[in-house]
Amino acid sequence: VNIPDLIRKKRDGGEHTRAELETLVLGYTRGEVPDYQISAWLMAVFLRGMTPQETADLTLVMAGSGDEMNLGDLPRTVDKHSTGGVGDKTSLILTPMLSALGLTVAKMSGRGLAHTGGTIDKLESIPGWTPELEEDRFLAQAREIGLSLVGQSKDLAPADGKLYALRDVTGTVDCLPLIASSIMSKKLASGAHTVVLDVKVGAGAFMRTLDDGRGLARAMVDIGTRAGRQVRAVLTDMDTPLGHMAGNSLEVLEALDTLRGEGPEDLTDLCVSLAAEALSAYGEDEQAARARAAQTLQDGSALAKFRAFVAAQGGDPTFVDDPAKFDVAPGRAEITAPAAGFVQSIDALGVGRAVLALGGGRERKGEAIDHGVGVEVLKKPGDAVQAGETVIRVYHRDGRGLEVARGLLEAGLSVGAQAPQAQPLILDRVN
Ligand code: URA
Repeated sequence: VNIPDLIRKKRDGGEHTRAELETLVLGYTRGEVPDYQISAWLMAVFLRGMTPQETADLTLVMAGSGDEMNLGDLPRTVDKHSTGGVGDKTSLILTPMLSALGLTVAKMSGRGLAHTGGTIDKLESIPGWTPELEEDRFLAQAREIGLSLVGQSKDLAPADGKLYALRDVTGTVDCLPLIASSIMSKKLASGAHTVVLDVKVGAGAFMRTLDDGRGLARAMVDIGTRAGRQVRAVLTDMDTPLGHMAGNSLEVLEALDTLRGEGPEDLTDLCVSLAAEALSAYGEDEQAARARAAQTLQDGSALAKFRAFVAAQGGDPTFVDDPAKFDVAPGRAEITAPAAGFVQSIDALGVGRAVLALGGGRERKGEAIDHGVGVEVLKKPGDAVQAGETVIRVYHRDGRGLEVARGLLEAGLSVGAQAPQAQPLILDRVN
């Protein structure tokens, strides 16, 4: 096959067959098709789009480009994915809830990049905890306690990693079929029967508008359905950070509060809703599923799963019961309300960038991070404040990045005389 013919076909608005996508994508992954040809093809896709069938075929080709996890004989497998936000510690709470509910989570998670955090980094706030498990142990642990979580293997959907790196430098990242296929290729290759997607929408998210978020959610659900999986998506607000904490250790502490039934309402509600989506994908009645999910946070069963999971992956389980053990950076600074009134907004992107400036995140893959720094949002939009009252607390280490963080946080805080209209956290669902 002639690669320029395939580029011309997409340039002129044609629809690729699965075999053509294999030629392009697998050829590129093997190093047989050069960057410049795939760059041109990606731009043609960016400009012309892809049909739902083409998008699903591209996803399957990418999913099949490397190792595929076989979770076949594990009971009721479920995976979860968030498109990334600020203060999003949902996986830390939801995954033990799911295993307490009798589902199996054998999951790959990522590290944080730029202003968004990653589950692996957060868990590494617990000394000894490791994301590196051999496949046998990963599967055995999933069978025994219903929860295992590892870093994403380089051999999983390698086509996606290569294509993403090229998209990043050719202006072709923000293209719906390419985003949807990128995310779903990793989910399909990870093997779970049911996938719950949390598509974040707003200032701190990849998708800025509800319409864009819905489009991405529909595309991902469609891919999953065509591939024979159960996929549910919820669209959730990411104008404001989720919960109160952003930063690695701080988020684990908030997740532990939530697992004890003492978490913030928005975070608790989101975890219950996502767990209910997973149960309903397995045929449970929705109201009953919500009640059962909420119960795992009240009766200690999700916390017990989390403790067992931490210990199984080498972490010190005493951290789960003694929050004082976590390394939280000792420096404190406060951002206060400039006037009396109501908090109108707390810019999630500003909070994410502040954590990055403090050293809690990384600009480039592989950089070390400080797990102890972060930001606590004490007052959320709609809360009343007095002039001079603390709205945001910063946890810094020796002042590193503090001035930059302060500037970002002050710029992202607005206080006004009237209470703003209440914004629901869950904006829509797609299944
Ligand atoms: N996340 C991914 O994994 N891929 C994309 O293309 C965008 C976000």
